Amino acid sequence: MSIDWETLRREAAVMAQRAYARYSRVHVGACAVTDDGRLVRGCNVENASIGLTLCAECGLVSDLAASGGGRLVAISVVAGDGKPLAPCGRCRQLLFEHGGAGLLLDGEHGPVRMDALLPGAFGPDDLDTRAT
Ligand code: THU
Repeated sequence: MSIDWETLRREAAVMAQRAYARYSRVHVGACAVTDDGRLVRGCNVENASIGLTLCAECGLVSDLAASGGGRLVAISVVAGDGKPLAPCGRCRQLLFEHGGAGLLLDGEHGPVRMDALLPGAFGPDDLDTRAT
C-alpha cells in the first residue's frame, strides 16, 4: 500500500487543533491509515487530575476499534505546530498492539518502523508463548 503521508500529517494537525490541553498547552493530534484504507484519528484530552490525561494515540486506538478494528499501517502524530511529536512510551506499546513491528511512524527525517521505536517489545505473542 502506498502511504499518503501528506494527508496523514494534515489530518493529524487538524486533530491537534481539537485537543483539550488546558494544563500542558501541548496540543497533540494523530491520524493513521488502516490495512483496509480507513483513516482513524485522535487528539489528547487532559484532565484536572493530571494523571488521567488521554494521549492522542489513545483516542486514535479507540477510533480504530469503534470504526471496525483492523491493523494500523502508518501513523502521523504531531503537535500544535504541525511537526512530528515522539509518541510517549505508553503509546508506543498501545500502537505496537494494533500495528505490530512494521507499523510506520512519520518522522522529521522520514518514516520509522515501530520495531526501531520499541525494540524487543513485549506483545500479544508473548501472552501466547510465555504462559506457564
Ligand atoms: N501527549 C500525547 O497526546 N501523546 C504522546 O505520545 C505524548 C504526550 C500529550 C499528553 C499531554 O496532554 C500532553 O501531550 C503533554 O504531555
